[in-house]
Amino acid sequence: MKCRVGAAVDTFHNLVVLVFTDKIIHNTRMSNDKNDNKNADKSAIVQSAQDIEAQAAAEITKAPSSRELYDLKTKYLGKQGSLSLLMRELGKLGSADRPGVGQLFNDIKKRLEVAYAQRENELKASEINAAIARERLDLTLPGPHLDLGAAHPVSIVIREIVEILGRIGYSVRQGPLIETDRNNFTALNIPEDHPSRDLQDTFYIDDRHVLRTHTSPVQVRTMENEKPPRRVLAPGSVFRCDSDASHAPHFHQIEGLLIDRKVSMADLRGTISYFVDEFFGPGLKKRFRPSFFPFTEPSAEVDCSCPICRGNGCRLCKQSGWIEIGGSGLVNPKVLANCGLDPEEWQGFAFGFGIERMAIIKYAIDDIRLFSENDLRFLRQF
Ligand code: PHE
Repeated sequence: MKCRVGAAVDTFHNLVVLVFTDKIIHNTRMSNDKNDNKNADKSAIVQSAQDIEAQAAAEITKAPSSRELYDLKTKYLGKQGSLSLLMRELGKLGSADRPGVGQLFNDIKKRLEVAYAQRENELKASEINAAIARERLDLTLPGPHLDLGAAHPVSIVIREIVEILGRIGYSVRQGPLIETDRNNFTALNIPEDHPSRDLQDTFYIDDRHVLRTHTSPVQVRTMENEKPPRRVLAPGSVFRCDSDASHAPHFHQIEGLLIDRKVSMADLRGTISYFVDEFFGPGLKKRFRPSFFPFTEPSAEVDCSCPICRGNGCRLCKQSGWIEIGGSGLVNPKVLANCGLDPEEWQGFAFGFGIERMAIIKYAIDDIRLFSENDLRFLRQF
């Protein structure tokens, strides 16, 4: 029994030397001197506990931040904290002393926990206030300015044409802007030495590829890849190597193609009449002037009375009262055959309108350069 108590005191002594103040060490030494005097052990432990409490309480109330406060919790109240380590000595006290000292430890622990919670609340409140002050937003400041764009009149016209003809069964197809010479010319009955190739000043990519000069190659692609009957529209960019006040090297067309059995010029006229009434508004006269395209036979240029002056003559229609809106005709049987359709069984009509031209007529725009300037003051008007 003596031996056990002596060993306990030694352990306690080492521990105290490691962790506590001179005063504690002094007290502990005293208990050592008196060797197995349990009352002396008790008073040393009590003294140490009180010192720890005083020191912990002082540090906790002064903790400058939640983080440092939390470190104090580990330092004093954690499993390896000084109070917990000291508590282990409790078992080495005589059974008469144990309950009283145990109670003291519990009280100290409770008081420190209360002090901890109190400081924690204070720090939280002041840290929240600091964050609010730091992250303060001035809600009266103007927000970031986002410039909204506007649909380009070319896009608006394409959408509108697609919508109008969509109502009578047309749907959109697309083709590449770099086309084969064959799809842009040869299959459309424009042979290599044909003078009509010179009519369209072509951007050549190489011997066999061009920037498409019209949307008509999409006719070829449709006839070759889809089973008739068909009604398709092909809007998109086209390129021609000329540029002056009324021509841009890049502009837009929309191609229409209908393939069916027994198709006549009357069908073409009916379709275009319907379209002109829907697009420009009712009451305009329509005119089909004989013309020539290698891929249609017969061919016709489509005119309507000028929507601006209603046929009376103005600057837009150059006083003629008529406006030209595009080319059209019945699909040349040679083109049907080139694309693998039997001309005895299938016929069709096709038309091609210039989009910028339609926009110029509809909105009375007088300068084609406006289409490519991206000036929002212009674009927002449509
Ligand atoms: N592709 C012709 C052009 O660019 C227009 C057109 C299309 C004519 C379809 C007839 C039929 O001028």
